[in-house]
Amino acid sequence: MSAMAVLGWRTLWSLFVCFTVLRTNALSVTMSESTMEVVRGDYIILPCSFSTYSPLSRLNIIWTLAPFSSPESPFQVIVYDHGQIIEDPSLIGRVGFTDLPLRADIMINDTRVSDAGVYRCMVNNPPEAADPGIGELLLTVLVAPSLPACRWDGEVDAGGSVTLSCSVAEGIPTPEIRWDKLNPEEISLPINMEGELSGSVQIINVSAQTSGLYRCSASNLLGTENCYINLSIYSGSESSSGILQGVLLTLSMSLMLSALLVLVTWLHRTGRDGRWRVSKGEEEEEEGYNEIRYTPSLIKRSFV
Ligand SMILES: *[C@@H]1O[C@H](CO)[C@@H](O)[C@H](O)[C@H]1NC(C)=O
Ligand SMILES: *[C@@H]1O[C@H](CO)[C@@H](O)[C@H](O)[C@H]1NC(C)=O
Ligand SMILES: *[C@@H]1O[C@H](CO)[C@@H](O)[C@H](O)[C@H]1NC(C)=O
Repeated sequence: MSAMAVLGWRTLWSLFVCFTVLRTNALSVTMSESTMEVVRGDYIILPCSFSTYSPLSRLNIIWTLAPFSSPESPFQVIVYDHGQIIEDPSLIGRVGFTDLPLRADIMINDTRVSDAGVYRCMVNNPPEAADPGIGELLLTVLVAPSLPACRWDGEVDAGGSVTLSCSVAEGIPTPEIRWDKLNPEEISLPINMEGELSGSVQIINVSAQTSGLYRCSASNLLGTENCYINLSIYSGSESSSGILQGVLLTLSMSLMLSALLVLVTWLHRTGRDGRWRVSKGEEEEEEGYNEIRYTPSLIKRSFV
């Protein structure tokens, strides 16, 4: 080997060593997950690990969250600096580091929908340069569908039309809403969605066959909640029960009319009695006079 070649190899080797030292002197952050899911109310550990060759006396970790509800205003969830830990007021008592100072993982207890968003873990350990020093992960908070509310509207007489509506207050992912008629056999009904969280079914020209139990279900990957409507369609006057109903209605109507008649007669009589009593007093003449005096002026006023 010539002296030249030895020199060349030496240069290469020192360059390599230099590069390696520079590389290992740069702190790097790795996140084992890029997306995570948690069911609301459960706890979650957000992993963030880093490698550094410097002493940890000046270690600094900042976790930020850009919530899905307001991505443009990220805030600091928790900070570790000079051995001190500072938490955001909205997460106080619910967030904490789990493995300081070896890892930057945090745990969030009693998760809420507002905890969902993009988390960033930033680690610095001066004098080491950070490369890249930032990890990012997306957290989704899942919510089971709430109990839907079933409602019906319309005419339940044969030939009328009825609308069944159903709405669910919450659920993440957005619950799927469906309507089924359960008897005599189970059939799925075509649904009109009104927004993402409510759906209705319109039934036109209803008949006795329309009667039955209807179910609305709201479901997502966490489960299903149902509400029911028991629809009874009155088949009209063809049936004997219809005739009976008609007869009963007429009967009760005439009873009510008679009662009204009695009431009116009685009122009329007491009114006459009252007038008779007043006519016995001294006010009667003046009242009559007032009536006559004021009426024309009122009429005049309304015409002017
Ligand atoms: C979360 O709850 C667990 C169990 O109840 C508890 O051990 C842990 O300290 C809590 N973590 C935080 C950050 O509050
Ligand atoms: C309503 O239904 C009845 C029987 O189910 C049928 O005879 C009638 O033609 C229907 N009317 C309309 C307007 O569809
Ligand atoms: C629905 O209503 C009918 C008649 O009113 C009744 O016979 C039936 O038991 C009800 N079904 C349910 C599930 O409530």
